[in-house]
Amino acid sequence: MESFIRTLPKVELHVHIEGTLEPELMFQLAQRNQIALPYDSVEAARKAYQFTDLQSFLDVYYLGAQVLQTEQDFYDLTWAYLLRCQQDHVMHTEIFFDPQTHTQRGVAFQTVMAGIIRALADGEQKLEISSRLILCFLRHLSEEAAFETLAQAMSYQEYIVGVGLDSSEKGHPPEKFRRVFEQALHAGFLTVAHAGEEGPASNIRDAISMLRVSRIDHGVQCSQDPELVQELADIQMPLTVCPLSNIKLRVFERMADHNLVDLLRHGLCVTINSDDPAYFGGYMTDNFLAVAHAFAVTKEEMAAFSAHAIRASFLPDEEKAKLQ
Ligand code: ADE
Ligand code: ZN
Repeated sequence: MESFIRTLPKVELHVHIEGTLEPELMFQLAQRNQIALPYDSVEAARKAYQFTDLQSFLDVYYLGAQVLQTEQDFYDLTWAYLLRCQQDHVMHTEIFFDPQTHTQRGVAFQTVMAGIIRALADGEQKLEISSRLILCFLRHLSEEAAFETLAQAMSYQEYIVGVGLDSSEKGHPPEKFRRVFEQALHAGFLTVAHAGEEGPASNIRDAISMLRVSRIDHGVQCSQDPELVQELADIQMPLTVCPLSNIKLRVFERMADHNLVDLLRHGLCVTINSDDPAYFGGYMTDNFLAVAHAFAVTKEEMAAFSAHAIRASFLPDEEKAKLQ
């Protein structure tokens, strides 16, 4: 099983590029940009990555992202992630980025975009890894700030396939961004949203009805609402589940308690993803292995997670066919 998983061709649909910032690169960039970090060493940073819930992680994650200043920083970050994709047999990846985390600090939208786009083009050329980019609005910020960010994205439609919603789920329901998503859909962006990670199942329903999402990011709280589980199966709404993330952020206590295998066997379009691998202790292969270790799953079931991700990706059908 282990060697089967290692070489299984994979597609990642839920990874925050800022969440791939390994402490080694964080220290390098902090030095390059003369930014002080609250950790004495790489080891101390890793040791500090102990989280009790989503917010306790987000505080550390936004702090780490402050070392990202220049176009080259965003290039280096993205390139390092693509090299990890190569190791993990990730053939295609759809990457989230949080422009507001950077524009709020005075880093230009253009700087963020230019670095990421250049790395993705190199990834395509040199590593044969295809990719798409999804802009996430920070849901703890205002609707107005999201509208401003959407306006900035309009001149990058060639590079940004969709928009999403991330950051603190509790207290910031999908409804808050209904009008922003309406405008984004009208402009031709696809939509996704984090929903039912630690927030209620109703956020999943609302993301589908109000934000017209093509996929639900996480969605594991659907189990609170059996009728919703059946509907998700009926409409084959993809869930981008992040097993190691859910354990680190204590959504489930142990991997054996996770519901993704139950959901798969119930006929849902479940996929496996890494979320913020530098903070949660693992990239794609690690997430697949963690699931296989905790459950009596077959190779066919593990392959189904990959097949679902190909189907749920934002690639055109002819590109999907090449991955199968
Ligand atoms: N931003 C980065 N990772 C996230 C997660 N797991 N949930 C919400 N926002 C995030
Ligand atoms: Zn996420």
